[in-house]
Amino acid sequence: MKTTIKEAKNKIGQEVTIGAWLANKRSSGKIAFLQLRDGTGFMQGVVVKAEVDEETFQLAKSITQESSLYVTGEITEDQRSDLGYEMQVKKIEVIHDAHDYPITPKNHGTEFLMDHRHLWLRSKKQHAVMKIRNEIIRATYEFFNNNGFTKIDPPILTASAPEGTSELFHTKYFDEDAFLSQSGQLYMEAAAMAHGKVFSFGPTFRAEKSKTRRHLIEFWMIEPEMAFTTHQESLEVQEAYVAFIVKSVLENCKIELKALGRDTSKLEKVQTPFPRISYDDAIKFLHEEGFNDIEWGDDFGAPHETAIANHYDLPVFIINYPTKIKPFYMQPNPENEETVLCADLIAPEGYGEIIGGSERINDIDLLEERIEAHHLDAESYQYYLDLRKYGSVPHSGFGLGLERTVAWISGVEHVRETSPFPRLLNRLYP
Ligand code: 4AD
Ligand code: MG
Repeated sequence: MKTTIKEAKNKIGQEVTIGAWLANKRSSGKIAFLQLRDGTGFMQGVVVKAEVDEETFQLAKSITQESSLYVTGEITEDQRSDLGYEMQVKKIEVIHDAHDYPITPKNHGTEFLMDHRHLWLRSKKQHAVMKIRNEIIRATYEFFNNNGFTKIDPPILTASAPEGTSELFHTKYFDEDAFLSQSGQLYMEAAAMAHGKVFSFGPTFRAEKSKTRRHLIEFWMIEPEMAFTTHQESLEVQEAYVAFIVKSVLENCKIELKALGRDTSKLEKVQTPFPRISYDDAIKFLHEEGFNDIEWGDDFGAPHETAIANHYDLPVFIINYPTKIKPFYMQPNPENEETVLCADLIAPEGYGEIIGGSERINDIDLLEERIEAHHLDAESYQYYLDLRKYGSVPHSGFGLGLERTVAWISGVEHVRETSPFPRLLNRLYP
């Protein structure tokens, strides 16, 4: 009977066949331990010399790393492994012999691994990170579908810039100029006026010459947008959503979190409500902590965000940033017009901003003023202004960066390991 490593947990005591690759191997004169992987998981195959024919035992000792195989044997319980079971191998059929697989169990440098990303994806930790990414995506759809949101897909090729014009990827659209989307937000606002509560999930692009552990050139964003919703109400959706994905990963990715050596006690603490601190108080806090390099009106850098996050050891909302350091579309804060109704959600453990969100300007005159003040091409925002001409309503939304969220929940240092094929400064291959 053909099965998979994951399904084999329901096959204890039965003889099964699994299509697998050889990830690693150890052997002595009497026994060989095959580390098998098949995409669904990693499992040990035990080949005992006394229990198989000589040919099979010699084969087990000689198979090379990443050769593809059909292995047949009985699934038995093994309490010592993370998986809880292993295979007593009876028969091995080699499908393809792999020679000189470049990624060996020894340590390789990051650039070497990134050059071999197409193969590195097979490694146990990389496999675990992608499974966690997949779980976050699955939980995202579950959360928004259960809460009355409709998924709407904004375009990738666009004529307008939501987040400022300095980081746009330019391309030609026949005879016109076009840009790769930095954010689907403006289109999601139009969608919210048609469907009430909407969310998108898609790739976004930033031609940003940043080389940090938090920056990708191409990343995936989840962008919910809600009509008749204040910024305050939006914060409640954001924290419920983030707590939900953390809980989903804790429940459904136990083996992966273990493979990554993640300290899950930090994730167990992620419960709503999340702490909120105003930008003003954050500046005061940083001054008290001895950060004299920052003053009111400056944007926070990574060390500032990390200091604030460490203080709470939980995701924390920094709210009401100064108007001048935020995009054109944010609603002024009625309590202090120098600031806007917005928040960044900062992840714990130094992972930085994972969400940027705000209430959107719903008054057409103010919006026109802001578009002009930001030197944006008014022509390409006519559709956006229409939303304020025909039944304008208070509305709010946010964008969660998938890769930063995966990095935080997985506990991997750098976002490059959270994207299957990351686009980085100076890296377009593979
Ligand atoms: O704060 P940002 O730029 O916000 C927006 O684009 C809004 N239009 C979203 C909205 O309200 N609909 O980006 C949102 C999130 C950030 O918090 C971060 O998690 C992620 O996107 N992000 C990046 N992730 C990886 N690499 C980059 N270069 C990123 N830039 C932003
Ligand atoms: Mg931001």
